[in-house]
Amino acid sequence: MCGIVGAVSERDVQGILLEGLRRLEYRGYDSAGMAVLGGNGEISRAREVGKVAALSEVLVQTPNHGTTGIAHTRWATHGQPSKLNAHPHMSGDRLAIVHNGIIENYQELRDQLRGDGFEFTSQTDTEVVAHLIERYFRTTGDLFKAVQQAISELRGAFALAVLHADEPDHVVVCREGSPLVIGVGIGENFIASDQLALLPVTDRFMFLEEGDMADIRTNSIKIWDRDNHPVERKVTRFEHSMDSADKGEYRHYMLKEIYEQPRVIQATMEGRVTSSKVLEQALGTDAGQLLESIRHVQIIACGTSYHAGMVARYWIEDLAGIPCSVEVASEFRYRKHVIQPDTLFLCISQSGETADTLAALRQAKKAGFRAALAICNVPGSSLVRESDLVIMTQAGPEIGVASTKAFTTQLTALLLFTIALARHNGLSEEREAELVTALRALPGQVEAALALDEAIAELSSAFMDKNHSLFLGRGALFPVALEGALKLKEISYIHAEAYPAGELKHGPLALVDSEMPVVTVAPNNDLLEKLKSNLEEVRARGGELFVFADGESDLASEPGVHVMQIPAVHPITAPIVYTIPLQLLSYHVAVLKGTDVDQPRNLAKSVTVE
Ligand code: F6R
Repeated sequence: MCGIVGAVSERDVQGILLEGLRRLEYRGYDSAGMAVLGGNGEISRAREVGKVAALSEVLVQTPNHGTTGIAHTRWATHGQPSKLNAHPHMSGDRLAIVHNGIIENYQELRDQLRGDGFEFTSQTDTEVVAHLIERYFRTTGDLFKAVQQAISELRGAFALAVLHADEPDHVVVCREGSPLVIGVGIGENFIASDQLALLPVTDRFMFLEEGDMADIRTNSIKIWDRDNHPVERKVTRFEHSMDSADKGEYRHYMLKEIYEQPRVIQATMEGRVTSSKVLEQALGTDAGQLLESIRHVQIIACGTSYHAGMVARYWIEDLAGIPCSVEVASEFRYRKHVIQPDTLFLCISQSGETADTLAALRQAKKAGFRAALAICNVPGSSLVRESDLVIMTQAGPEIGVASTKAFTTQLTALLLFTIALARHNGLSEEREAELVTALRALPGQVEAALALDEAIAELSSAFMDKNHSLFLGRGALFPVALEGALKLKEISYIHAEAYPAGELKHGPLALVDSEMPVVTVAPNNDLLEKLKSNLEEVRARGGELFVFADGESDLASEPGVHVMQIPAVHPITAPIVYTIPLQLLSYHVAVLKGTDVDQPRNLAKSVTVE
């Protein structure tokens, strides 16, 4: 999705803005641009389609020097990816703007502005905002007031940063439905849609609230809330180590993030478990009281986070004996609901900025749920700020668009939550101690699963020339199959479908032949015998099987059947460990196919528009 960076400084900002854009590349984008107000009082603008590297090359030829600037990575919504549609947009040659989000009434405003004599050079909704602000600037002569009046006419979601050549040395920003953070410096200040963009220049951040506007100068940051009252926003320090945004020795961020999983799973448990118990206070000071009252859980999420929610449903119903429903946010938000009394609303999101998930949360808060709990990876994100209770995953910045470590840390957090909930619903001390032991064994078991890397890399060549694949699992391993299929299709572009193995004979078996590799996760659990019969159904139709199983599953390789053994694990934590080989498989297939592993086509890391 789109990214914003801006700086007001005493030094040249071109390098800061370019580095900020590079750090936002992971979000997915199709063009990039920058506008800088130079010492001559003129705005110079550069825009390029494609990667930030292309913009950087142009800036080597024709630098954009100056001390105030805004920059942007665009992910097309209104109008195709092109230089003319790339941000910053300008009104005349004195005002420049970058924008994240969508202006719903842009067509109507465009017609009005055309009537007022403004000329449009792009198909974007953003250019409408540029002209609207300029129109008000002409009457007020004050950029802040002009932005304030203009945004009162906008419908939709937006984060804006605006600079005007007639008012040097400051940038006006606002936030309404799209994230924006201010980076606090010394003798300079910054803005960005994600704090990650600003880590080379500061570790102190102020998060704007919905409806906030701010005036950013070298030595001052002034913020006003929606009602135009001056407000202070707390300065927080960035917690993750800076190295997290570096690829280090790894070829891709995705591989680095796969390998970080033992450490980040450990970090997600830290301070939250003893040797035999989950510390429920670590889930929030009032968590105990809340958990005691919960009779139903409604989980909402998108994509990979939704798959984590699907696994959690098996756990919650099994261990806590409490009914649990799971739904993708984009469906949930557009239908009527029957809400059982004392239902906990649980949102799962890596970014905490996914538009559908946030919209579902906002609806839920009005709809009579008992409370809203977020499981999230980004401190200070909208989801975190708007939920009653939060469990932070400790995955650190996830840069690869395909989610890996966020998923397994979400599962870890969800299992901690489930155990705490189950304790209020009859879970015995012995069973809790057994589950906590299983949790604490996870980092080592994930490490052991990572040791299969080379063997999986060899196996991956079997998928190179395939166009389709099928993933099977049963019980809580079915969502793991779904996640494995999602990973493969996202980064290798091979069509992959996942089914609960028992559904095979109800349709998908018709697809199985020697051209359809079938991947299965088969730990030794009480569904293993059933799963084995399903695998026989595949073999009988000539399908080639790729099975991940443990030594106790009693499955052996034979012609057409490739069995990879991973260490035996507790049935409850198996979904976490069995995710690892599927991540590695999709990674190696993508590398063989030569796709853009970290930034797959058409996808964005943080889906901040509907
Ligand atoms: C898949 C992936 C996406 C996200 C989804 C939700 O690899 O990354 O499916 O899981 O867009 O994003 P978050 O978790 O940030 O709400």
